[in-house]
Parts: sequence; C-alpha cells; structure tokens
Amino acid sequence: MAEDRCSTGVPSVDRLLGGGLETDSLTEIYGEGGSGKTLFCLGVAHRIAREGRWVFYIDTEGLSVDRLGAIAGAELDRILGRFLLSAPKDLEEQGRAIATACALAREGKRPVGLIVVDSGTAYYRLSLSGPDEDDARQALSVAVADLVATALRAQVPVLLTNQVWRSVREGTLEPLGGSFLNHAAKTILRFERLPGPRRRVVLVKHRSLPEGSAEFRITSTGLEGP
Ligand code: GTP
Ligand code: MG
Repeated sequence: MAEDRCSTGVPSVDRLLGGGLETDSLTEIYGEGGSGKTLFCLGVAHRIAREGRWVFYIDTEGLSVDRLGAIAGAELDRILGRFLLSAPKDLEEQGRAIATACALAREGKRPVGLIVVDSGTAYYRLSLSGPDEDDARQALSVAVADLVATALRAQVPVLLTNQVWRSVREGTLEPLGGSFLNHAAKTILRFERLPGPRRRVVLVKHRSLPEGSAEFRITSTGLEGP
C-alpha cells in the first residue's frame, strides 16, 4: 500500500481508491440511509485504533458502542481507549468539537490516525429554508475548512459523511452542503443500496483517479469485499 494511503480494510474499495483513503485530504461519503456510511467509518476507525493511533470521532447520533463492538469483539475496550468521542447536539457544538479535534491533531502530542465526522450535515439540514440557513452554511464552511487544513498540515485522513436530498427533476440523490463541500472534499464517494446486504460505492471525484465503482457487503461484523 502506498504510504500516502490509509487502507479502508475493504479490498475492493482500496483498489477503487488506488490503495486507500488519502492521508492529507478530506473524503466525503454521501448516500441514502442504510447505505453503509456509518459502518464504513466504524470499520476504518477500528483499523486505526487497533494500530494504537487515535481516532477523533464526532458523531451527531452518538457513537453506537454496540456496532463498534460487533466489529471489535473482545478488543472493544482497547479500541475505545484510542477513541476521543464527541456527540454534538447542534451545529454550534459540532463546530466546537471539530475545532478541538483539529487543534489536537495539529498539536501532534498524540498520534492521530483519523478524524471522522458522521453525519456532518445532519444539523445543517435542519436549518435549510429557515431564517438561520446562511449562518448554518457559514458555520459548516468554517468547520470544513478547518478539517481540510488539518488533514494537510497533520497528514491525517478526514472522513465526513453527508446526507442526501432527492432531485425530483433529475431523479437523482444529491449530496447536501452545496458546492463548497464538493470543492473541499478531494475524494467523493457515493454509497448505493443493492439488494440484500450488497452495496455499491461509486468514486464520484478524485484528484488523480478516474471515476469508477466497486461493491462490498454488509456482514454481522462489518464490511467485506464481494
Ligand atoms: P444513515 O446514517 O441513516 O444515513 O445510514 P448509513 O449509510 O450510515 O447506514 P449504516 O452504516 O448505519 O447501516 C448500514 C446497514 O447496516 C443497514 O442497512 C442495516 O442493514 C445494517 N445495520 C444497521 N444497524 C446495525 C447493527 O446494529 N448491526 C448490524 N450488524 N447491522 C446494522
Ligand atoms: Mg449513518
């Protein structure tokens, strides 16, 4: 595996990404509910924590320890010992949690291997079409810019999951967050549901790779190749 790549633990996805996640940029994953975004983040986080590096995990739903336990098994406590968890209750708290994670990662006192923001646009979505929409967009932009700068400076991969809205005109599922997020993310993946436990991952954008797709399956202990 190339040194500037972080394996996802799913061989088909690593191949699609030329070895894994870029370690100096933000990777965005969008897709409908149940497409596997959270499970994918947990799987990568588990790998990083297992190697003894820290994972900063910011989760608007609060991390499901049960789901991480299904992946980690008897090692759960050791794995959790390498997690710095945050469960923000609104966009302001999320911004503070991201700022703290970024500052700690840049400080470099502990080896940080991954920053996850799941789901980064959940609170932003709540303010859409309301009086606070502009402020929310600004807050999200500031947080995303901080994540991008931190990935580059600290050489830490950042995973941000994004929810979708349905474009009635195009008949497609589109990511939230507008063009700013789409520019800030150097890799964009779309997760799609297939029948049963099968899922497709589409490489929508990458700095150095062509578009493409791969498949994986959801199992009781995480994700695996087809
Ligand atoms: P949203 O956060 O709702 O947008 O969905 P997501 O894309 O994050 O999907 P997630 O990774 O949560 O779920 C993927 C699939 O995992 C779901 O379709 C469920 O079939 C399955 N799943 C959900 N919860 C559990 C669980 O606790 N254990 C296991 N093994 N599978 C689960
Ligand atoms: Mg999720």
